[in-house]
Amino acid sequence: MDEGHERAAFTAMTEGTAGDWAIIGADFRGFAGGLADRVLTHLKLLDGDFGGFPVDRLQHSLQTATRAHRDGRGEDYVVMALLHDIGDTLGTYNHPDIAAAILKPFVGEDLHWIAQHHGIFQGYYFFHFLGMDRDLRENFRGHPNFEGCEEFCRLYDQAAFDPAYDTAPLAFFEPMVRRLFAAPRNSIYLKAMDPA
Ligand SMILES: [Fe+2]
Ligand SMILES: [Fe+2]
Repeated sequence: MDEGHERAAFTAMTEGTAGDWAIIGADFRGFAGGLADRVLTHLKLLDGDFGGFPVDRLQHSLQTATRAHRDGRGEDYVVMALLHDIGDTLGTYNHPDIAAAILKPFVGEDLHWIAQHHGIFQGYYFFHFLGMDRDLRENFRGHPNFEGCEEFCRLYDQAAFDPAYDTAPLAFFEPMVRRLFAAPRNSIYLKAMDPA
């Protein structure tokens, strides 16, 4: 698969050496550089996935991001909006956690919180139709990011199901995704990322 690539010599980490980890570290930096591509590839899995909604999940994601962008939101916010439902495929029962985890090293705490809690706040618009409590978000009333999350759902997420809306294509957002994922702000691996 990766013929010709150098490999560490250990068979258990207890036998690892600095030389082994130099090999792995160099490889990791190359792999990390492909993160934006992997995110975009995964986002495309939402294409054609309607789930009964008027637009598929990719169009919903693009429309959420388009609305945020046209409303003057910053790039970090727009990328958060684009990716907020990326977890629908693997996180079928907790999709906001997936987006929040992917975004965590790259965005501020407020945007991470919005991504993580948008499912509960979005529920205000439909939980009562499913026998659930639409006011579940009230558990977070008074939290510093309550208004921000309420606003994200009201202005962009709940409004992004219009097939007639002039939604920007994924190509429009790709440079933003690449810029955001170019370098993490918060990660326990930050020190190891420095090749010097
Ligand atoms: Fe969602
Ligand atoms: Fe959504």
